[in-house]
Amino acid sequence: MSNDRATGDDVRVQECPGGPLLVRGAAAWVDRDGTEHPVTRPVVAVCRCDRSQRQPWCDGTHKFVTPEASGRATA
Ligand code: FES
Repeated sequence: MSNDRATGDDVRVQECPGGPLLVRGAAAWVDRDGTEHPVTRPVVAVCRCDRSQRQPWCDGTHKFVTPEASGRATA
């Protein structure tokens, strides 16, 4: 997650405690491998627990993962 980043002119990022990042205004999300994922919605939820089956997007799996098990999403 540390090398992940959003592209766009007016990007705003909000951490959801124990869940994803809410990213507003992004044109794309670039994951840690450098793959660019186009963003077509005003707000997207980016997975921080690494358990989503729809990476890089949150699919709600974090609700079933404890912060201790994931090592992430502890905000
Ligand atoms: S943060 Fe929601 S599935 Fe990972």
